[in-house]
Amino acid sequence: MTKKKAHFLGFIQHGVSSHATGMWRHPKDKVGWDYASPPYWHHLGQTLERGLFDAIFIADELAPYNTYADSSDTTVKYAVQFPTHEPSTIVPVIAGATRNLGIGVTLSTAFEHPYSMSRRLSSLDHLTGGRLAWNIVSSYSKSEWDAYGSTMPDRSLRYERLHDYIDLCKKLWSSWDEGAIVADRVNGVYADPSKVREVNHDGPFFKCRARHFVSPSPQGNPVLWQAGSSDAGRDFAAEHAEAIFAIHPTVERMRAYSDDLNNRLVTRFSRPANSVKLIYGIQVVVAETRAEAEEKYEFIRSLVPKEGSLAMISGQLGVDFSQYDPDQALADIAVPGIQGVKDALVESGSGKTVTIAEAAQTYSLRFSMPALVGTPADIADQLEDFMDRGGADGFMLLATYTPGCFEEFVDLVVPELQRRGRYRSAYTGTTLRDNLRQTD
Ligand SMILES: Cc1cc2nc3c(=O)[nH]c(=O)nc-3n(C[C@H](O)[C@H](O)[C@H](O)COP(=O)(O)O)c2cc1C
Repeated sequence: MTKKKAHFLGFIQHGVSSHATGMWRHPKDKVGWDYASPPYWHHLGQTLERGLFDAIFIADELAPYNTYADSSDTTVKYAVQFPTHEPSTIVPVIAGATRNLGIGVTLSTAFEHPYSMSRRLSSLDHLTGGRLAWNIVSSYSKSEWDAYGSTMPDRSLRYERLHDYIDLCKKLWSSWDEGAIVADRVNGVYADPSKVREVNHDGPFFKCRARHFVSPSPQGNPVLWQAGSSDAGRDFAAEHAEAIFAIHPTVERMRAYSDDLNNRLVTRFSRPANSVKLIYGIQVVVAETRAEAEEKYEFIRSLVPKEGSLAMISGQLGVDFSQYDPDQALADIAVPGIQGVKDALVESGSGKTVTIAEAAQTYSLRFSMPALVGTPADIADQLEDFMDRGGADGFMLLATYTPGCFEEFVDLVVPELQRRGRYRSAYTGTTLRDNLRQTD
């Protein structure tokens, strides 16, 4: 049987630092680059495309975390995913500098009506030539709700609302029939109204009576991406997603998640097993020798600010950890925020108790993803194992210093995987969806 080939995505934010806190302090971070200007994004996009990545993936949250000590002071002080600029603005900037690279964008459904969201996404799918993915999120952080002047509903209500949201988006995206645009210059008829159907949606959360304002985009709709990990989140993903982003610190957990998701696809949603791409998060620190890679990682680790790490985990899990003893076990604390992140942190102890302080450090360094530190061969060995035993279809690479961490991966790890026949040597598709489905 031919072995699966890997897919790669670069996980970043439109800001000074992404998920590895303190990276702006690294002497190799953004040397000569300004993250707020197009040349940086051109270079990053072109680097990932040179490495034949499926996509660059832009994470987002809508406001600085303010859960820790009921304030955003610590978030601001240590650049904890702060400042973060609006993510969709860089989509056309990256698209203009690349030809094949997909662009995944995280846009929250919490404060925007599905009508304008689907319009924006269709427009971006046009502008990228069919290279857009949408990471569907519903805003898990108190700071986001505070910023918009409302209170966060509980998880089950967020997912109920999300179902209605996606139903309406899908209706809008499929409302233009083939041949709707006539463009008959002689008779002056541009479009056939009977083929641009009006959507009449009367759902529990959203109402809409309108035609979709944008002509069908190259992919019809963006690739639908999801990262929910609670029970409701997994069901939502199994029902709607084309690709999933999940974090599992061990290959055993990856396997369990892959099996669970495939089981949900088949038994609950009549979708074929393996029809959703399972993309797992990893952090890679590569060098010519193992000792050099370990030294690099140690330095990266030393840059994470202790208090900043508590602000980050407080924001993402929705718990004010300034009120807790840092030596307390994380497992005992219920979280209203990202369940999947908490589970991954607890499991990162491999059976040993993980304290709040340890979890904060792990989280702010590597978002609880497995850290792959070593030579290109070491990294490739582990990636093969994650695909073969863990069921991974691909990997989301968590940034450290940029753009260097991606340049190193492309120059050192990509050729090693190609040599082993575990990575593509060219893009074969024209859209992101095609490339995600590419198996050779
Ligand atoms: C790997 C990963 C990445 C995520 N990235 C984002 C993000 O960039 N922005 C966001 O608002 N939520 C993000 N989330 C949150 C989820 O998509 C989801 O809204 C949240 O996990 C709550 O659902 P859950 O409890 O089912 O996990 C991420 C979650 C995971 C596991």
